[in-house]
Amino acid sequence: MKGMQTRLVHGGDPHPRIGGAVVPPIFQSATFEQKAGNDYHDGEYIRLSNTPGHVSLHEKLSLVCGTEAALVTASGMAAITATLLAHLGEGDGLLAENRLYGGTESFISGDLQRWGVKVHRFDGTDPDSLEEPPPGTKVLYCEAISNPLCRIPDFQRITEWAKSHGIITVIDATFATPILFRPVEHGFDIEVHSATKGLNGHGDIAAGLVAGNSERVDTVRRCLNLLGGHLDAHACFLLYRGLRTLGLRVARQCENAHGLAQWLSAQPQVKQVHHPTLEQHPDYSLCQKYMGGLGGGVFSFEIDGSVDEAQRICTSTRLMANAPSLGGVETLITRPASSSHAGVEKEIRVAQGVTDELIRVACGVEDLDDLIEDLNQVLGESHG
Ligand SMILES: Cc1ncc(COP(=O)(O)O)c(C=O)c1O
Repeated sequence: MKGMQTRLVHGGDPHPRIGGAVVPPIFQSATFEQKAGNDYHDGEYIRLSNTPGHVSLHEKLSLVCGTEAALVTASGMAAITATLLAHLGEGDGLLAENRLYGGTESFISGDLQRWGVKVHRFDGTDPDSLEEPPPGTKVLYCEAISNPLCRIPDFQRITEWAKSHGIITVIDATFATPILFRPVEHGFDIEVHSATKGLNGHGDIAAGLVAGNSERVDTVRRCLNLLGGHLDAHACFLLYRGLRTLGLRVARQCENAHGLAQWLSAQPQVKQVHHPTLEQHPDYSLCQKYMGGLGGGVFSFEIDGSVDEAQRICTSTRLMANAPSLGGVETLITRPASSSHAGVEKEIRVAQGVTDELIRVACGVEDLDDLIEDLNQVLGESHG
């Protein structure tokens, strides 16, 4: 198999090229001519995610993730909900990490429980807490890098434990992307992503991804087909295009995050910086072990000041936009307490370290010096 950058650029391209087009075209058609001898179920139809645009995208993504199969979805939440619905039923148990993306958290603790799935929790940062699984546990679910404190679980210990108990492992690897971490290489059965973020990387579509072995992905596909959670044709084209530069973008975002995190650590107005490339981060060694020392493009920091001051910083930057999301080419800044974690009870949020004053930065690919200058001018005003 070719190297990662080559797979990103060329993987999935149709041969021969369609009409000679170097960039595969948009297949903006809901249905396709039935081929002689094929029955109705073999037909290409947009909701079944089997148009030529979907097929190329699935091939590129399975090459990049190192999985047998891949399936794109209408959003990250479509990937997550279809995966969990396809594998869990009434009476089954789900063992979920205790700090998850808000949408996932709402689905797990609300809808899944309402439908009779028993939800149990574990602390991803403390694999010793995994002992005998609660009876009926069928699926374990965790995230590769937590938002916004960038905690990294010990993946090997988790997957070894789950395998020894016959539990299916699912991981949301959105914050890591396949550039930093390929979950199946570390024993996970299924990975899910919000491709709205780094995979597409340009902040202009919603998309999701499920990858794993063919049997598992087919199980999800069946459920997704019925839910109608397919990715539309134009978004397929944009995601395919975005993926071509994933490696370059992630490398630059990681450099920017590390550079900004280091610079902030030395500023008198800053109390603490959370990025796993900093030696003081509790998961520094896990970041070295699993992600080649690259901790992703997101980090967070706490200022020595009030909530109002934190809010002022988020709304005063000139380059960084005060907006949620991550993984795009432009840098975004938010206060998680008022964005990603607004729906989490304050007590739980603060106990997890997500204070009102915490600020999150999702790095883009701009010049580091300009990003430093942007934060310097707003932090400088804190002094005055
Ligand atoms: C880690 C993670 N997983 C899943 C999602 C949901 O993705 P989407 O908005 O594409 O549905 C998000 C969105 O922010 C996320 O950050």
